Amino acid sequence: MTDHPAPLLERYRALIARDDETFPISLGEGGTPLIHAVRLGAELGLDNLYLKFEGTNPTGSFKDRGMVLAVNRAVAAGARAVVCASTGNTSASAAAYAAAAGLPCHVILPAGKVARGKLAQALAAGARLIMVDGNFDAALNAVRRLGEDGLAVVVNSVNPDRLAGQQTGAFEVVDALGRSPDALALPVGNAGNISAYWQGFNAYLDADRTPGGGLPRMLGFQAEGAAPIVRGEAVEEPETVATAIRIGNPASWELAVAARDRSGGLIEAVSDDEILDAQRIIVRLEGVFCEPASAAGVAGVRRLVADGRLERQMTVVCVLTGHGLKDPDAVQAEEGSLTPIAPELDAIRREMGL
Ligand code: F0G
Repeated sequence: MTDHPAPLLERYRALIARDDETFPISLGEGGTPLIHAVRLGAELGLDNLYLKFEGTNPTGSFKDRGMVLAVNRAVAAGARAVVCASTGNTSASAAAYAAAAGLPCHVILPAGKVARGKLAQALAAGARLIMVDGNFDAALNAVRRLGEDGLAVVVNSVNPDRLAGQQTGAFEVVDALGRSPDALALPVGNAGNISAYWQGFNAYLDADRTPGGGLPRMLGFQAEGAAPIVRGEAVEEPETVATAIRIGNPASWELAVAARDRSGGLIEAVSDDEILDAQRIIVRLEGVFCEPASAAGVAGVRRLVADGRLERQMTVVCVLTGHGLKDPDAVQAEEGSLTPIAPELDAIRREMGL
């Protein structure tokens, strides 16, 4: 717990909080950088490309924006425990905020498909982990049923407090740019974040807090092997290297489709190769290290610029949803690991090619 009330929730209190509501639990979430990506923009063909880097949140992903509100409200409602299903980041966030609140946290995870860093975070914070021999969708179904029993508060994005808190990402983008971007691109998994951003841009506009008015086109990207919204039907066995978005039946499907259609946007699929290529150029050109799923938005924007559906002068924001350190194995699989050589100057010089 911080000494000060939750700065993010207090900053946007007028748009989020109930009367007299207090937020004793905070880990200092939000306030993430919006980086003008000049070198990456030049590579893609955009003069005004920005990266909203959510990896600087306390647990390294955007989930903290909604989790802080969900856990504060669970505590206020007298919850005895929280529970979630997760591809990893939700569990890391839930575990941390539950620890700060002194609440037990139960986590249901798809076996074998959670990135190492995320698992470590949940374990370290003392969450009670249960792995199921099934995917995220099966885990979320079980969690919804557990929530109905009333023994624990569900902190997945089916809890409206999660989406309410995640709207702050949109508020920060408008505050930082001093206007609404022309387009906002992001990965789509359970489809909560695209829905929350859209809700947030609309709430900001309605509150007269968007200078110049306007709303962005929402550009969502799923992984090819896990693209139910693009295909128009649930995917039984979703597969992708971007395990965070390995989801076959998103909970916020309809909200995401509404965000797409009302904004004049799109939801498309990108391949695992496009995702990993994007992850690499983001960090090599900008120094910003995000996890594979987070790169899906940049992969999609790259294609849209290439085929003329986005123009050079447009202001485009890509949300990088989680930190690269969460999934070191994805990088090592791509870049390989090191073989030691003798600690001798000549040998080292030779290796350096100098
Ligand atoms: N990016 C990252 C890094 C994520 O962890 C997630 C979702 C998404 C994008 C997609 O966001 O679900 O709101 O469409 N991760 C969830 C989890 C499912 O359990 O951590 P979404």
